[in-house]
Amino acid sequence: MKICFIGTGYVGLVSGVLFSDFGNKVICVDNNRKKIENLKKGIIPIFEPGLDELVVRNYKSKRLFFTTDINKAIKESDIVFIAVGTPTAKDGVSADLKSIYEVSKIISKNINKYKIIITKSTVPICTGDEVENIIKKNNSTSKFDVVSNPEFLREGEAIRDFRYPDRVVIGSNNLKKTRPVLEKLYEPIIKKGAKFIATTRRSSELIKYAANAFLATKISFINEIANLCEKVGSNVDDIALGIGSDARIGSRFLRAGPAYGGSCFPKDTKALIKIGDKFKTDMTIVKSVVKSNENRKFLLADRIIKILGNPKNKKVGFLGVTFKANTDDMRDTQCLKIFPKLLKEGVKISYYEPTGEKKELKNLLYKKNSDEILINNDLVVIHTEWDEFRSLNFNKVKFRKLKIFDMRNLYQANSFLNKNITYYSIGRSLNDKKA
Ligand code: UDX
Repeated sequence: MKICFIGTGYVGLVSGVLFSDFGNKVICVDNNRKKIENLKKGIIPIFEPGLDELVVRNYKSKRLFFTTDINKAIKESDIVFIAVGTPTAKDGVSADLKSIYEVSKIISKNINKYKIIITKSTVPICTGDEVENIIKKNNSTSKFDVVSNPEFLREGEAIRDFRYPDRVVIGSNNLKKTRPVLEKLYEPIIKKGAKFIATTRRSSELIKYAANAFLATKISFINEIANLCEKVGSNVDDIALGIGSDARIGSRFLRAGPAYGGSCFPKDTKALIKIGDKFKTDMTIVKSVVKSNENRKFLLADRIIKILGNPKNKKVGFLGVTFKANTDDMRDTQCLKIFPKLLKEGVKISYYEPTGEKKELKNLLYKKNSDEILINNDLVVIHTEWDEFRSLNFNKVKFRKLKIFDMRNLYQANSFLNKNITYYSIGRSLNDKKA
């Protein structure tokens, strides 16, 4: 099948590359010339394990193409995926759909044969209707269908998540025509056991928001249970195991930590509240989740201050600053809210991050490796669960006192009993009475 992906962000690039790997001809389009030139050379704009090899392999095999010529790409394709960004709008809550609508206009001018136009970006309910209206308004004669096909892949796990998803969801008001085409497109994935769910367009749009909001709710729930564990002397890891073993609850997304961050959960939970407002439905649970998650970052900053005692001029080193491991993405990462509070208290912050120095943190001291963080600070905060932080070289701190605040519960408190290290973690009791 001939496919084009408009937008080479996370979702567009990963999906485009993997559809080409399934043997389709895929044209990836972006209006950023530099990005397209780099992609042709195999230089990818994001950190995603394994993606660069797939780009090079499929580009060399002439199944994968990169271009800025959007008109030609649409004309040559049977299926057009819209995968442009839908960031949070200026109001701080809604999804900004400007790019979606601009692209829809361009598509309307390039429909030279029947096409299936698919919104892959996360878009509010009724966006598909609006895309359809825009195309019809600009081109009343062409034949096309607008389908919703949300993507559920996670950053850092994108290739595996795309190849082996739990389900593929499509939403269309003309399933009779679109379903067989999309079933064929997703055949390699369905054959491996993924459920294929076909529904209406609006239901499909809502599934994506409901999924992200539900996962965010699970995380916030376990984080609040962790807060309670710290007060009552229980262990949140055991609670997560105890409740997660109930198949009705499920064990995944129950890791307590430093609040959820990233490009999706914070944006999509807020957008779902806004959608609720639009349709006069009060999303009270999601509102509480957003509030709980925001509060958590300040709560953790307060905990750091408490651990330090007198924070002024104390040195704190962060290990990892991205919102989770295996990504270089700094969008809505938790530490961006924690740092200002610490700096205001006079704390001196340094950090090491496996994906390198961050432009968002240019006022902070960057260290080249975790050893330098361990040697030079009063407190070390394990902020991101990168594998390399699971076996830190604590011999480096043998002869002096150090505090560690493990926000990802990578270690067990009893590994530190004979060392000069005071260990703090999330929702576990050992040092909770002290901080
Ligand atoms: C998420 C969804 O999982 C994915 O389906 C959707 O397509 C995009 O949004 P992503 O943002 O890449 O993916 O990361 P994810 O692995 O879901 O983690 C999001 C945040 O939640 C991270 O900050 C992570 O550290 C946190 N998290 C996740 C927890 O704190 N505990 C958990 O148990 C799981």
